[in-house]
Parts: sequence; C-alpha cells; structure tokens
Amino acid sequence: MRFLLCFTVVALSPLVAVAQEKKEAGPIAEIKLVRKDPVTYEVVEPIFEKRCFVCHSGNIKEGKLDISSYEGLIKGGKRGESVKPGKSADSLLYKVVQRTTKPFMPPRGEDPCTAEEVALIKLWIDGGAKAPTTIRKRKDPIVSAPPASIKVVRAVAVSPDKAAIAAGRSNQIHIYDAGSGNHIRTLLSPGLKTPDGKDIKAAHLSIVESMAWSPDGKYLVSGSFREIIIWDALTGEQRHKITGFAHAVVSVAFSMDSKMFATAGGEPTVEGEVKIFEIPTWKLITDIKNGHSDTVYGLSFSPPDVQYNDPSYKPKDPKNAKDVKMIPLPPMIATGAADKFVKVWTINDGKMVKSFEGHTHHVLDVGWSPDGKLLASAGGDNTVKVWDFEKGEQARTIAAHGKQVTRLLFIGKKTEFLTAGGDNSVKAFNAVNGGALRTFAGATDFVYAVACSADGSVVAAGGEDGVVRVYNGINATILRSLLPPDAQPPMKKEEKK
Ligand code: HEC
Repeated sequence: MRFLLCFTVVALSPLVAVAQEKKEAGPIAEIKLVRKDPVTYEVVEPIFEKRCFVCHSGNIKEGKLDISSYEGLIKGGKRGESVKPGKSADSLLYKVVQRTTKPFMPPRGEDPCTAEEVALIKLWIDGGAKAPTTIRKRKDPIVSAPPASIKVVRAVAVSPDKAAIAAGRSNQIHIYDAGSGNHIRTLLSPGLKTPDGKDIKAAHLSIVESMAWSPDGKYLVSGSFREIIIWDALTGEQRHKITGFAHAVVSVAFSMDSKMFATAGGEPTVEGEVKIFEIPTWKLITDIKNGHSDTVYGLSFSPPDVQYNDPSYKPKDPKNAKDVKMIPLPPMIATGAADKFVKVWTINDGKMVKSFEGHTHHVLDVGWSPDGKLLASAGGDNTVKVWDFEKGEQARTIAAHGKQVTRLLFIGKKTEFLTAGGDNSVKAFNAVNGGALRTFAGATDFVYAVACSADGSVVAAGGEDGVVRVYNGINATILRSLLPPDAQPPMKKEEKK
C-alpha cells in the first residue's frame, strides 16, 4: 500500500523518469516561496513531526539522529552535524530531504517531502536555523507503530530447556524452534490498535525493547514503550499486561526461583525506574523511585543461597581472618543506569545497600555472578567492569568491545559471562581473571541483545541487521540464522559446488 502511494507521487512528478519505478525518487525541484515572515522552528517542526519522527524520535533514532527536539537536530547524528546554520547547501539534513545526497530521506517506501516543505526547511536553515522562541510544554513522546521497513532486534530470549528462541523484532515477537530453526508462532496482543484506531497485528505497538524467559519455563515477559506483557510461554497467549511505566521498559529480569520479576527504564535524564512484581499475582511489591537520576538499563537479581560475611559481626580476635560470621545474603537486586552508577538494593524494602562508581559512560547492563561474589557491568564506554560485591570495590576493567557493550549476562552457574557489543560481536569472558574466552561473530551491524540457555550450550543474539544468530555456546560456531518469518529464504550458496 505504501509503495503504491509512493509510486503515485513519483509518477506525477515531472522531474522523475517514470521508468525508474523501482528506484528512489530523485532530487526535489527547488521552488521559491514568497513569504512575509521569517521561517521559524515552529514552522518546520510539524514537517519533521509528520515525515521524520517515526524513525528519528523516542526509541527509534535511526542514524543516531533525534529530530524530535531542536537540541537533537542541532546535535546531529552518526555522520556528525546535520544542520549548518545559514548554509543549507552544506547541511546534510537539507541535502537528504532534497534528495541530492544519500541516504535520501524519508527513505524508500515513505513519501518524499513536498517541494514546499523542502523550501521551508531551506529557508529555516538559511535564516540561521534558529531555536524555538515560544516556550512549549515538553511534548509527550510519539508512540506510533514503527514502519514495516524496521526489522531491528532489540531483545532475544532462550527458553531454559533450550527448545525455543524468542526474537523481539521491531514490534513483533517471533518464536522459533531452537533445534530446527522453524518459525513456530508470532505472539499477538489482542485488540491492539494504533493511536488513530487501526487494528494492528503485533506484540506491542512500539518496539520490543526487552524480554526474559522465566527460569521455570512458564512465562515470557516483554517490555516496550510504557508497558510490559506477560505471555504464556507454552501457548503464546497473553496472560497479563501492565501499563503506566514512565517510558520504555528497556530491561526485564526474573529471580532464579521464578517468584518475582523486575523491570527497568525511566525517562531519560529525568529519573530511573525499577519495579519488582510478584508472580503470578502480578502485584507490584517494590518500587524503587529516585534510585538513579537517569534511565536504568540493566537489572540482575542476587543468586539464592549465598552466604556472606556479616558486616556487623565483631571478631574477638581481629587478626584472625577466619573469625567471621557468615549470614545468608538477603534477596537483592543490582541495577545499572545511564547515570554511570551500578547500585544494589534490598528487595523487601527497596533500600540501597551499595553503590559502585567507575564507568565513564552509561551503564547498559549488569549481571550478578552465581556465587554471589562478583557483579559485572556493561558500559557505554566499551568496557566491562567487574566489582567485588563484599568489598564494595572495583576488581577489574576489561576492554571488552570496540564499541559500547549493550548487554551482559552470566552463563548458568558459571563465573563466565556473555556480552553483546556495538562492534557486531558477542563475546564470552571469565569474570574471575577477566580473560577473553570466545567471540561469536557473524553479525553485520550493532548487536543489542544476547541470551543463552541455562546450561550455556545455546546462545542467541540479535541486533540492527534484524537476524537472530544461534550459536553453539561452547565453541561459538553459528548453528543457524533466524530471519523474519516473511523474509525470502536465503540463497543456497552451497548448492553451486
Ligand atoms: C522510515 C524511517 C525513516 C524516516 C521516516 C526518516 N528517516 Fe532519516 N534515517 C533513517 C535511517 C534508517 C537512517 C540511517 C541511514 C544510513 O545511515 O545510511 C537515517 C538517517 C538520516 C540522516 C543522517 C544522519 C547521520 O548523521 O548519519 C538524516 C540527516 C536524516 N535521516 C534525516 C531525516 C529527515 C529530515 C527525515 C524526515 C524528513 C527523515 N530522516 C525520515 C530512517 C528514516
């Protein structure tokens, strides 16, 4: 449907050869607008809102460019500055909407800007690309379904018995048979509608940002913008939906006994959000407010049955290192946030137990070693830091990836962990000595998500390229690639031989 619409525009435009129907529409003719008033930001913002926000705001910042605020526009994207005030000819943003420089925007499949819109953007930039002058209320973030062209995988989960793999792909959740790689089902949230009332077949309206499979195998929880859904892992039916989160739920985690799960998120630069729910009543049992000053990206429950030195115990002979009192570790949760901190909280009362500082950029995930002794945190500073929980200090820093470390999880009962990185790879490390163990290669872009079976033998990872790769967790070979169920089957290269 979208293609048809787009084609009509192309065909009517006198500048474009109709024969190039498969090609993208080319340059948009420059027109002169006669205006009395200068073009302010307030004039161009609605154009950006209509044409760009779906891919450049909220959770979806294609090209690392946020167009939903003046600050974001001026900051630019992965290619740097996109607006040079006073110089439209040197402004990437102008050149891509005018379609003289690639990547043409909006991209293939979306309607191009009209000549008048392009002219207004040009006048705004040439007039100095000035900031808005009216003080407006902070706009509610746009919640719309991502366009069909978006296939990004932000979340994966592996069932504890390694029979199934769940891929959160854009706003869809695809379940695959881990053994054969066959698509089993797509999870659909009943009655889901777009803000303008159209039915949509998806798991969530917005992108699936996080997923976790309960250790008892019964539930799959998925997090998206302002909501989570609890699915029956066996039937794929929606069991429960919880809404009202401040922003996207970017991480979910279960306690080892499957009696609780926690969610992380919060509005960027405003406040972190951590909520702990009871299973199967889905009641909120702990709400950690103001624990972090920015989005919480990672969560990890303390392992069960861990003993540690009672810090309040006074030894009779302080020189005797063996004179200690061991007490069971109370149930706790570790959190890592964009405010660069890793913190630990008791679950019963949500009180902070410890705080670890050292990352120089966002903390994007955190894991607790199964023996309870170590925490490991993934950083936007490309490093993993390992912390000694009892001493409350940093044990080591690992230069883990060439780009940000997006996810981290410990492998079953081992003191080894997996990390996903922006450098197109997943890696395994030994937490005790920091040694690199394995590299899981094959991704062609940023990896956002990694999960593994309870025994560590099956590892699944996904990211920007939309493919979920399944690996042998022991030797890091690729077992299969899980494509979207509607994708063309891959070319059989091996048949040539
Ligand atoms: C359907 C999704 C989509 C829409 C709608 C869209 N873009 Fe993009 N945009 C992308 C993608 C994907 C990229 C990254 C492409 C690349 O790097 O080659 C991108 C990249 C860009 C970049 C380059 C950023 C950088 O620094 O690399 C600019 C500038 C841009 N878009 C402007 C716009 C403007 C202006 C609009 C609206 C008129 C718009 N886009 C609408 C998907 C979209």
